[in-house]
Amino acid sequence: MSRAAVLAGIGGWLPPRVVTNEDLARRFDTSDEWIRSRTGIGQRHVVDQGTSTGDLAFEAGARALKSAGVDEVDAVVVATTTPDHLSPATAPQVADRLGLGGRAAFDVAAVCTGFLYGLATATGLIASGTADSVLLIGAESFTTIVDPADRSTSAIFGDGAGAFVLRAGEPDELGAIGPFDLGSDGSLAELLMIPAGGSRQRSSGRPAAPGEEYFLMQGKQVYRHAVLRMTESAQRVLAKAGHGTDRIDRFVGHQANLRILDAVADRLGVPPERRISNIDRVGNTAAASIPLALADAAAAGELSPGDRVLASAFGGGLTWGSCLLRWPDITPA
Ligand code: UT7
Repeated sequence: MSRAAVLAGIGGWLPPRVVTNEDLARRFDTSDEWIRSRTGIGQRHVVDQGTSTGDLAFEAGARALKSAGVDEVDAVVVATTTPDHLSPATAPQVADRLGLGGRAAFDVAAVCTGFLYGLATATGLIASGTADSVLLIGAESFTTIVDPADRSTSAIFGDGAGAFVLRAGEPDELGAIGPFDLGSDGSLAELLMIPAGGSRQRSSGRPAAPGEEYFLMQGKQVYRHAVLRMTESAQRVLAKAGHGTDRIDRFVGHQANLRILDAVADRLGVPPERRISNIDRVGNTAAASIPLALADAAAAGELSPGDRVLASAFGGGLTWGSCLLRWPDITPA
C-alpha cells in the first residue's frame, strides 16, 4: 500500500488586537451594515506594531506540535503572502525558534491558495519518503500590505496563523490527506497584485509610484473568478475521489467573503449545516484561513472523527486548489 500523509495535530493563533467594523467606519467612509452584508465579516485580528508573520507562525506551529504530541518533525513549510523578508524565506527562522534547527525549511507562495499548495507539497515530501513528518503553517500579517486608505481591502483582510502536523501513514486511515486538484492562470495576475518591491519594478529603474507597495485587488472580477474556480476545482477533486457532495460531511472554503463561500457551497449542493466558517470573527486571513477555520471548528466540536472534509481555495496568481481529507481523532491546542 502507498504511503499517505496523515493529519496528526492542528493549532491556530490570532494576534490579540481586534479591529471591528465600527473601528474602520471611524477611519473611512464605510459602515458595519455595508461590511457585514457584503462580506459576512464583523471583525478581524490585526498584528501590533513589531509583530511579524514569523511570530504568528511560531505560535501556531508550537500549538500544532502540542496537539500532535510531538516535538520533532523532518521539515517545516510556511505558506505566506507576507514573509518576514523578501529574502530569506520565513520558515528556517520559525523552525529554529521551534527547536527544529537543521531540518528542511522553506516557504510556499500561492497567496490565499498557499495552504493547499503547501499541503500538496508536504504530502509529496511524505509520499516520496523524503520526510516522515512535516509541520505546515499558513501564516499572514496581511494587514501590513493593505493600503490603510483602501476601504475594500481593509474591510476584508485580517492577520493570523494556522498549522497542521502531518505524519506518514496509510491511505485508508483517519486523517489521510488527498486527492488534490491544483491550478493557476497567470494571465490574470494583475487582478490581485503588489505592483512594486519585486524584481519587475526594481529592474525597471523606475521608482515605485505611491500606493504600488500595497496589495491591489480588482474586487468584482476577483469575486467572479473565485466562485467559478473554487466550484470547478472542488468538482474535479470529487470526480478524482469517485463520489459526489452527498458523501461530504464538511465543506471548508478559503474564507474570502461569506457570499463567495455560500455561492460555491450552493453550486456544489452542500447544505448550510455542513459549511464551516469563522469569517465573521477573523476576516480573510489568506494562507492562514483554512487551517484557522478547521482549528476553530474542531475546538467548537463541529468536526467528528471520520468526517469527510472538502477544502477549496482561490487566490492571487491566479491560483486555486481543492483537497479531501478524513477528519482524525485530534484535539486542537
Ligand atoms: O482572498 C481571495 C481574494 N479576494 C477575494 O476573494 C475578494 C473578492 N471580492 C469581494 O469580496 C468584493 O468584491 C468586495 C467585498 C471587495 C467588494 O464588494 P462588491 O460588492 O464587489 O463592491 P464593488 O467593489 O463593486 O464596489 C461597489 C461600491 C463601490 O463604490 P462606487 O464606486 O459604486 O461608488 C466601492 O467603492 O462599494 C464601495 N465599497 C465600499 N463601500 C463601503 C468598497 N468597499 C467598501 C466599504 N464600505 N468597505
